[in-house]
Amino acid sequence: MDLFFYGLIDRWVLLQQQIRRSSVWISIFRREHLPQTETDFLAMNRKNFFVHILPATIDKRSLRITYSWFWMGVIAFWLFVILVVTGIYLMFYYVPSVERAFDTVRQIINQVTLGRFIRNLHKWAGEFMVLAVFLHMLRVFYTGAYQKPREFNWVIGIFLFLITIMFAFSGYILPWDQLGYYAAKIACNIAENVPFAGDQVRQALLGVSDCNNLNQFSLLRWYVIHVFLLPVLMVLLIAIHFWRIRKDEYTIPPEEGA
Ligand code: HEM
Repeated sequence: MDLFFYGLIDRWVLLQQQIRRSSVWISIFRREHLPQTETDFLAMNRKNFFVHILPATIDKRSLRITYSWFWMGVIAFWLFVILVVTGIYLMFYYVPSVERAFDTVRQIINQVTLGRFIRNLHKWAGEFMVLAVFLHMLRVFYTGAYQKPREFNWVIGIFLFLITIMFAFSGYILPWDQLGYYAAKIACNIAENVPFAGDQVRQALLGVSDCNNLNQFSLLRWYVIHVFLLPVLMVLLIAIHFWRIRKDEYTIPPEEGA
């Protein structure tokens, strides 16, 4: 049995070597072998597009799973990736029309191939992302990681948190069922009460002059916010967030220094 597994591992290593030596691999990654020495590794880290996001060296202690609260930030990121992929699938079927939105959501659940699964995945990933981002924020606060030199990233994080909440809220509106309709009404009432520019904000976000008459524009605007504006902002801010994490380096558990 052992021999069988060793055989499998040998073949796997051989296959990896063959792939790494192939001209296709070399043309993409420009490297013929894995780094063997530290200098080699540092050079790869600097030159390779796919790994340059990772720090060249890292303090092992900062990677402790309990310290990062189970890598909540990483979990939030992967939940966002799931949301994008499942969201694109839903966009093929959902129609942002006040007459049809509710029916298209029903169709997704009952008729579309894998529709119920993908929609549930989208909903649950959304709920968990709010939780994950919140827990990640708590961890950063609890470990004092918001202090110098990471204060800028903390501010970026606040915006990421607000965008996450806006994602959840705008998604809620889209089925245009009772919950969605009244959520839009709440958004309208909040917009209307913005000091000095209430009318303009309501008009911009809901496209109506009276919150009792929400219409097609109201739904369409929240659809555009949900599938375009927020994703673009999120991707941009996540890129800045990761760039700063990379530059500022991770914090180290306080009891052990730094
Ligand atoms: C979409 C939301 C977010 C994503 C995907 C995200 C992702 C990450 C990742 C992957 C890390 C490094 C590893 C880890 O701690 O898990 C990190 C670190 C950090 N995040 Fe976030 N984050 C998000 C929201 C936030 C929020 C809401 C805040 C605070 C308001 C924040 C502040 C920070 C800070 C200061 C660090 C550096 C922590 C350290 O060095 O110990 N992030 N984030």
